[in-house]
Amino acid sequence: MAKERCSFTDKKYHCAAVLCTVALLTCAAVVSCGPSAEKTQETEAVPEYVFTYSENQAEDYPTTRGAYKFAELVKERTNGRIQILVRAEGVMGDEQEVVEQLQYGGIDFVRASLGSVAEFVPELNVLQMPYLYVDSEHMWRVLESDIGQEFMGKLGNYGLVGLSWYDAGARSFYTAKKPIEKLEDVAGMKIRVQESTMMTEMIETMGGTGVPLSYDKVYSALETGEIDGAENNWPSYESMNHYEVAPYYTVDEHSRLPEVQMISQITWEKLPPEDQEILRQCARESAEYERQLWTRRSEDSERRVREAGCTVIELSAEERARFREAMMPLYEKYCSDYMDIVERIVEEGEQEK
Ligand code: GCU
Repeated sequence: MAKERCSFTDKKYHCAAVLCTVALLTCAAVVSCGPSAEKTQETEAVPEYVFTYSENQAEDYPTTRGAYKFAELVKERTNGRIQILVRAEGVMGDEQEVVEQLQYGGIDFVRASLGSVAEFVPELNVLQMPYLYVDSEHMWRVLESDIGQEFMGKLGNYGLVGLSWYDAGARSFYTAKKPIEKLEDVAGMKIRVQESTMMTEMIETMGGTGVPLSYDKVYSALETGEIDGAENNWPSYESMNHYEVAPYYTVDEHSRLPEVQMISQITWEKLPPEDQEILRQCARESAEYERQLWTRRSEDSERRVREAGCTVIELSAEERARFREAMMPLYEKYCSDYMDIVERIVEEGEQEK
């Protein structure tokens, strides 16, 4: 719009400014042609590739710090040839939008929740079935096994290349007016879920109404009463200030959805194998870093919301088993082609006990 309104005089000024800039740059290039300029060129190359990286969390959130670590490692290992510009706080769009952009190569990298990615890669629902994992160690053993690799590989059929898994803990319910203490309490409640068909059906199977909504809209939906509750991990509950408007947190840990760090297949194919290997290695290292940050942040967030006066409801093992039992129709619907894998995952968890 602003461009259309530009007058001829504006354009003249614009041309003059461009000419001046070119002249100044030429002078600078001539002046800097001494030995020190040569030295700079030796130590750091001019970027051959400048890539964008979308992240929807705050600057201090573990996944965002993981993204910066990734960008820093890649810059270091390619001697500045590959530069990655991290855009946090969802400025590039919500998760559905940025994953679509990734498929078209409009964005180069995205870190998104498995919940969002599974909407594009339906097979991934298997890894995020409610109450599938006993605990965090169980999930990580699965993700690091051939099962995790096989499912990561499935992204390739949808224009995406999976680079690494980041930690995102466990998701639990939180509500504004009335706590969830037993399965029957979900009946009649409107609970926000990610824009995921499976998650929406999870709430319906519990007797409530699932309301798919993007992450940035949850606070106001809770505040206005458009929804009665939502579900997420401790750091998101705290970082997005949801605890201010939904002070009852029920630790049922129904889902463990790792984060997925991805690159667009279009971008990937522009790169030679040596650079692809550097990206994979840096992604792995940044994931280790993120996992350490995650553990600390999760404890801090839990402490902060408890100190802020939130009511935390712990479910008994029997009640949690009732929630889990109620989810069986979902397993039949979403995992029928993968029952052998689900069984292997469950057995893996039983070995732990
Ligand atoms: C987590 C995850 C986000 C996601 C959000 C959600 O916070 O890190 O990437 O958008 O869940 O519930 O939408």
